[in-house]
Amino acid sequence: MNLSASEFYSSGADTTDAVLESAFFAKLKMRNGTFKLTQPSRFQELEVAFRPHVQERAGSLREVLDVGVSTGLTTVELARFLSDCGSAASITATDLFIEAHIVELFPWFRVFCDPGGWPLQYDLRGIAIRPWIRRLDYVTLAFIPLMLSRSILQARLRSRISAGVSTPVRMVTRSLPPNGAIVFVENDIMRQSERFIRRFDMIRAANILNTGYFSADQLHVAIENIQAYLHGPGALLMIARTNRAGENAATLFELDEDGSFTALGRVGGGSEIERLVLDFRGPQPSTAIGALSIGRQ
Ligand SMILES: C[S@@+](CC[C@H](N)C(=O)[O-])C[C@H]1O[C@@H](n2cnc3c(N)ncnc32)[C@H](O)[C@@H]1O
Repeated sequence: MNLSASEFYSSGADTTDAVLESAFFAKLKMRNGTFKLTQPSRFQELEVAFRPHVQERAGSLREVLDVGVSTGLTTVELARFLSDCGSAASITATDLFIEAHIVELFPWFRVFCDPGGWPLQYDLRGIAIRPWIRRLDYVTLAFIPLMLSRSILQARLRSRISAGVSTPVRMVTRSLPPNGAIVFVENDIMRQSERFIRRFDMIRAANILNTGYFSADQLHVAIENIQAYLHGPGALLMIARTNRAGENAATLFELDEDGSFTALGRVGGGSEIERLVLDFRGPQPSTAIGALSIGRQ
């Protein structure tokens, strides 16, 4: 049986069960059509392959950005990997969707939704019901009540949330280290954020910058933003994609003096967007926002 959000976030829930946690999040479909999917230990081969490059720079890896982290399960593993490599980096973990709310509309009906009132799960007397529509629902006509309830409820949920009549929760893993080394921020990699400019010594984008998700133009925008977020020459960029069989295709890049990237290492033949990254010509890191003397923000 699916776990309801109220049960999942209740104090009695088993906070150590990673399988239960992944199963709960994997059934949540966001308003942009993506699911909160992630898998533990999916990047072990990348850690083995890229370890020498990371270890070599461990002392200078102070701020790391992990883009499109879902619940951050693999960010926790990245933190462990960096620490094993000798780096005490703090990690900023971003995703489009992190904040959510549980709204009780009736004593027997609660809705788990995003801050804009987009339903992620209905809870009818403790039974979790998915609000999203599958192809089969068009055959069985189940899509009609699902669509109706979404459009009727959205405004109501939004107004309850802005009136403070909801329980705010975060869609992040409960396996976070208690030392605060990972900070979650809602952020869109397609929109440049001033506060990230030239801040990071390493950026990872895993299972997000895929040709299936984004057009070449969108990927170019994302690469442009990532380049702007890197601290300067020598900073690292890791791009990876995991296929259904759990195999990875990834490339580790280094930012050059002239603002272009060089590939330092590959796994599984390299990232599918490696060519786009290597062909990228952005502003030189030292002149991107003024002189190098501006330093870290
Ligand atoms: C498949 S998950 C990858 C999770 C994790 N990085 C991993 O590899 O296990 C992709 C995540 O990217 C997020 N995402 C999609 N578009 C995004 C965007 N424009 N900016 C930031 N995150 C985005 C989705 O919300 C989703 O949680």
